[in-house]
Amino acid sequence: MINSVNFIHKDHQYKSVFFETFGCQMNKLDAELSLGLLQEEGYRIVDKVDEADVILFNTCSVRQHAEDKVYSHLGALKILKKNHPDVIVGVLGCMAQKDGEAIFKRMPHVDLVCGTRMFSQLPELLLKIRNHGSHVLAIDENQIVNVKRVVTYRPNIYQAFVTVMRGCDNFCSYCIVPYVRGREISRTIADIKEEAQALVLNGCKEITLLGQNINSYGKGLDGNITLGDLLSELNDLAGLERIRFVTSHPADMSRDLIRTMCRLEKVCEHLHMPAQSGSDDVLKKMRRGYTAGYYREFVRYARELIPHLTVASDFIVGFPGETEEDFQETVRLMEDIRFQNCFIFKYSPRTGTKAAELKDDVPDEAKRARNIKLLELQKHISLEENKKIVGKEVQVFVEGASKSDPNRLSGRTRQNHIVVFNGSQELVGKLVGVVIHEVTDLTLFGKLTSCL
Ligand code: 5AD
Ligand code: SF4
Repeated sequence: MINSVNFIHKDHQYKSVFFETFGCQMNKLDAELSLGLLQEEGYRIVDKVDEADVILFNTCSVRQHAEDKVYSHLGALKILKKNHPDVIVGVLGCMAQKDGEAIFKRMPHVDLVCGTRMFSQLPELLLKIRNHGSHVLAIDENQIVNVKRVVTYRPNIYQAFVTVMRGCDNFCSYCIVPYVRGREISRTIADIKEEAQALVLNGCKEITLLGQNINSYGKGLDGNITLGDLLSELNDLAGLERIRFVTSHPADMSRDLIRTMCRLEKVCEHLHMPAQSGSDDVLKKMRRGYTAGYYREFVRYARELIPHLTVASDFIVGFPGETEEDFQETVRLMEDIRFQNCFIFKYSPRTGTKAAELKDDVPDEAKRARNIKLLELQKHISLEENKKIVGKEVQVFVEGASKSDPNRLSGRTRQNHIVVFNGSQELVGKLVGVVIHEVTDLTLFGKLTSCL
């Protein structure tokens, strides 16, 4: 295992990198930070594996399916690697941390396994492979991620994600994250503010703060710091228009934070606060630390203070022992809360977690049927909620050309609705008013009214 890497000369021969990311937003940001470091070293990003000298996968372990996908991508590189042995193949992130050495055994053509806390050393690790050969394992759990962000390497000039804390101490019984991402570590407000300021000076108007369990932000820092304190500080940054934060845990969410959101004009009226289940029995087995009643009451309080608040959630169906009655409780929660949108997952046992000791006894067919039922219900609710916006004017931050129709623009409301409308490219990065005249469950369509 490599604890510290220190090389003096730089590699000038191997300079093109293909990078693919799986999983959550934090993985996407880690990929962006890694690519920033590599570009500083002179690497060119390519979008085809057969044009790359270095092929890297930033991986996810949250469900088996995500891992299977990476192993199948790696398997497909066997022939390429045989024909071009100098190409470096690397596995980064959660799966690298979890499977470690076993990846080399299963996929001997992989050269690098780099865990969740060592990607800032990528340039040196790649150089080590070039100079000393393959099978470099870098999964030290005691490293603290500390990346000097190169703010100029960003896929979107007007928007940025900023990691404010890493890791999770919650140990929900189904979740692998605390094992692969380690204990919670918060960055200082000064550090985050410096990064945010640099981003704003570089043109950024909207920042989304990232943390696996963002409501725990500040734990371990000197002076009782909370997420509310961080939001207050960032709200003062001139030039920044909007602030978002993900992911909220219902048990760690405080009423105080809702009051702070209410007070700060740049903080958007949206929460991603996964409920996971509507059954108290299942929530208990999941070790979530709240009941469905508590969740309902919290959302009621939050909406009382922030009337236009939208709430998004994740749900897991088919957790061990989940009965039809438990599932109906989830349906009821979904109907009561009327989420803006939901991600629904079939339970996937993760070795090493507490839930993996329970029998995975809900048949896959039932998992699939429950998944479809929730997706359909949510689609129906989203459409009904979106219809209520027809005829109203919303404030939109223009993100770029619409993916489905490049002749139109796409942006988001403060409540995180996607809005598509006609307008010129100069509006990208600006706040505009749009009157909504048509909706689907996922998108609002409207007409530009003003530049705000
Ligand atoms: N099986 C299925 N879904 C899971 N999630 C986390 N762990 C598992 C698992 N073992 C889901 C949760 C979480 C989201 C990121 O992934 O809903 O909120
Ligand atoms: Fe996983 Fe629970 Fe931590 Fe979220 S809060 S990352 S679900 S352990």
